[in-house]
Amino acid sequence: MTKKILVATEKPFAPDAISQMKKVIADKSDYAIELLEKYTEVSQFKDAVKDADALIIRSDKATREVMDAAQKLKIIVRAGAGYDNIDLAAASEKNIVAMNTPGQNSNAVAELALGMMVYMARCKFNGKSGSELLGKKIGIHAYGNVGKAVARIAKGFGMEVYAFDPFVAADKIEADGVKVVGSVEELYRTCHYVSLHIPANDKTKKSINFDLLNSMPKGAVLVNTARKEVICEESMKKILAARNDFKYVSDIAPDCAEELNKDFADRVYFTPKKMGAQTEEANINAGVAAVEQIVAYFENGDTTFQVNK
Ligand code: 3PG
Repeated sequence: MTKKILVATEKPFAPDAISQMKKVIADKSDYAIELLEKYTEVSQFKDAVKDADALIIRSDKATREVMDAAQKLKIIVRAGAGYDNIDLAAASEKNIVAMNTPGQNSNAVAELALGMMVYMARCKFNGKSGSELLGKKIGIHAYGNVGKAVARIAKGFGMEVYAFDPFVAADKIEADGVKVVGSVEELYRTCHYVSLHIPANDKTKKSINFDLLNSMPKGAVLVNTARKEVICEESMKKILAARNDFKYVSDIAPDCAEELNKDFADRVYFTPKKMGAQTEEANINAGVAAVEQIVAYFENGDTTFQVNK
C-alpha cells in the first residue's frame, strides 16, 4: 500500500525544495507526498494527517491532539534542528519515531545571525554613525552546527570568537580557532556580541537573565536565532531600560515585542516571521534529508536521527 508522507508547513518550503523532495521518491511507487501549506487552523492539520504514515514539519506543532488524529502515523521528521515543537512523550507513547535533520539549515541561520549583527552595528541603517564587527568579541552560546557556522563567518569578519558549550569537547571547539570559556557567566562578561544557539527546554527556558545580560561589556548586542523562550522577558525589558548601550536583535519576536519596539525602537529589531532557515538552499537540504530519513526508516529501520529514543 502506498505510504502517504504529509508535508505540513504553515511556512512553506521553496518550490524547488518540494520538487527535489518529490525526486527522492520518484522511482518508488509505494510513497506519495502530499502538501498542506499555509494552513491557519489545527483542524486542517488534523484532517490532513489522519491517513498519513509519515509527517514532515518545520516549526509546526506536532501536539498530542494532532497525533491522536493520526491513526496510521509511524514517523515525524522535523525538517530542521530544534524539536521543541514535537510532544516527544506523546510520540513515544504512540510508538511514533520523532527525528530532526541536524545541520541541514545551519548555514542559513548562521548567515542571518551575522546579518542581524551588521544591521544593529550600523544602527538599523538609519544613517547615523555605527560601529564595525572587526576586532569585536563574539560569544557563541552553544557550539552545535549553527554555532560552528557562526564561528566560521565571524572569523571572516575579523571578530575574536569565544564559545561555551559543556556538551562539546574543548579541543573540538579550539580546533576551529575559537577560544573556550569555562562558564556561561564568563562568556557574557567577555563578549560584546553574544549569539544564542541553545535549545528551548526545561533547563534553558528564561535562563538568559538580567545578571548575565548586565555583565556584558559596553555596546553589548544579544543576537537570538534560537528560541524566544530562553529569554527572561522581564530581564530584557529591565536591561534595555537600564542601559542605553544595550541592543537586542532576534529572529523570534518576544511576546513583549510591541512594548520593546515602542520603548526602545533604535535598539531592538525582530524579524516579522522566523527567517533563519528560510533560504532555498536550507529548504532543499532539510526537506530532502527529511524524505530520505523517512524512506530509510521504512525500508531499513534506520533510526539514526531519532530524538525520542
Ligand atoms: C530550526 O530549529 O531548524 C530553526 O529554528 C528553523 O525553523 P523553521 O523551519 O520553522 O524555519
